[in-house]
Amino acid sequence: MDPIRNPYVPGAGASPPELAGRHELFTQAGIVLQRALVGKSARSFIATGLRGVGKTVVLGRVQQLAESAGYLTCFVEAHEDKSLGQLLAPPFRKMMLDLDRLGAVTAQVKRGLRVLKSFAGGLRIHHPLGLMIELDVDPERGTADSGDLESDLPDMVSALGQAAKSRRTGVAIFIDEIQYLSQKDMGALIMAMHRVMREGLPVVLAGAGLPHVVALTGQSKSYAERLFAFPELGPLSDEESADALRTPAEREGVNFTKEAVAEVLRITQGYPYFLQEWAYHAWNVAHGETILAGDIQVATEVSLTSLDAGFFRMRYERLTPRERLYCQAMAELGPGAHRSGEIAAQMGSRTQAVAPLRNALIRKGMIYSPAHGDIAFTVPLFENYLHRIKAMGSDPADAED
Ligand SMILES: Nc1ncnc2c1ncn2[C@@H]1O[C@H](COP(=O)(O)OP(=O)(O)OP(=O)(O)O)[C@@H](O)[C@H]1O
Ligand SMILES: [Mg+2]
Repeated sequence: MDPIRNPYVPGAGASPPELAGRHELFTQAGIVLQRALVGKSARSFIATGLRGVGKTVVLGRVQQLAESAGYLTCFVEAHEDKSLGQLLAPPFRKMMLDLDRLGAVTAQVKRGLRVLKSFAGGLRIHHPLGLMIELDVDPERGTADSGDLESDLPDMVSALGQAAKSRRTGVAIFIDEIQYLSQKDMGALIMAMHRVMREGLPVVLAGAGLPHVVALTGQSKSYAERLFAFPELGPLSDEESADALRTPAEREGVNFTKEAVAEVLRITQGYPYFLQEWAYHAWNVAHGETILAGDIQVATEVSLTSLDAGFFRMRYERLTPRERLYCQAMAELGPGAHRSGEIAAQMGSRTQAVAPLRNALIRKGMIYSPAHGDIAFTVPLFENYLHRIKAMGSDPADAED
C-alpha cells in the first residue's frame, strides 16, 4: 500500500498514531499534576519497563498534560557521563527566565534567579569548563552553592518551586533514562523532591527508566519508595495491541483480518516497538485495503531484517567481546530470566569470576535483575536475535572488534 499514507512509526520516542493502553497512568498523572498545583501532597512517579515498551512516549504525553494544566516543563535525558547538575541547570535557567517574564517582579522570582546563579556557580567548582550561566543578578551566597548536589539541588528546586508558586503555576521536571544517574545524583534528586513535598510546592517529577531503577532509588535513599510511585509499563494486552494496530489503519480506510492481528500478536508479544515495526512493514507489503495473514509473514522477514540492522544491533555493538559471550550464554539458556550461577556455568566459569561482566552489562542497561540472583535482558526478544546471529556464523560487529 501507499507508503506515504503509512501511519505507523517504529522509532525511539516516536509518538504513536494510537497510544494504546496506559490510561490508568495518565489518569493518575493528571491527578498528581492537579494536586501539586493546589499545594496538596502529590507523589511523583518513575515509570519503569524494558526497552521499546513506550516509556519515552508516556513521558512525552504526561509533559503535554502538564503543559495544558499550565505547568512550566523541562525534559532531559540522563546520560552515563553527564552529571545531573549539568543536565538540569540549563532548563532551570530557561524556566526561571520564563517565570521572570510572566509578570511583575515578585520577591520569590527575584530570589529564584539569585539562587540559580549560586547553583550554577557551585556546579562550576566541579566542572571548570562546564556551563556558564549569564544572569544579571547577584548570587545568593550560601544557598545552593556548596558544590555538593545533595544540598544544592534541594535549595535550587525549592527556590524554583517558590518562584512558580508566586506566579500561580507549577514546574514539572521530566527525566528519561533515569537509571543512568549516579547513586549520588539520584540521592540529590530524591532529597530535592522530598524537600518540595514537605514545603507543599508545585513541583512534580516524572521519570522513566529500566526496571532496576526501583532498586537504585532504594539504595540511594530508603524513603524513596514512599516518595515516588513506580508504575510498571509492560507489553500491551491483546486488546490494546489490536487497538494499536487497527485504529490507525481504520482512519485510512484499511483493515487487518483477525488472523493477521493474531499473527502480529504472536510474534511481537505485545511489545509496542515491535507492534509499530510489524504494522509499518505489513502496510507497505499489503496490496489491497485489507492486511492479510500472508502479508504479515512477508512483513516478518522485512521487520526482522530491519530490527537486526537497527534496534538489536545498535545495542549489541555497545558490548565488548566478553560481554557478548555473557549474553550468548544467557541466550543459550533460553528465554526469560536465569540465575547468575547458571549463566556462569554455561560460560564454563564461576559466578564470582563473571560478576564484573554482569555489573558492566547492568550499567550499560543491557541486562537487569528482576529478582535477587536472577538476570534477564532489558531488550525484549534479544535472545532470538543472538540465536539468529549465531546461526549466521559471523559477528555483525566484527568489523569494529
Ligand atoms: N502505548 C503505545 N501504543 C502504541 N505504540 C506505542 C505505545 N507506546 C510506545 N509505542 C511505540 O513504541 C516505540 C517505542 O516507544 P518508546 O521509545 O517510548 O519506548 P521506550 O520504552 O522509551 O524505549 P527505550 O527503553 O529503548 O528508550 C515507538 O515506535 C512508539 O511509537
Ligand atoms: Mg525511551
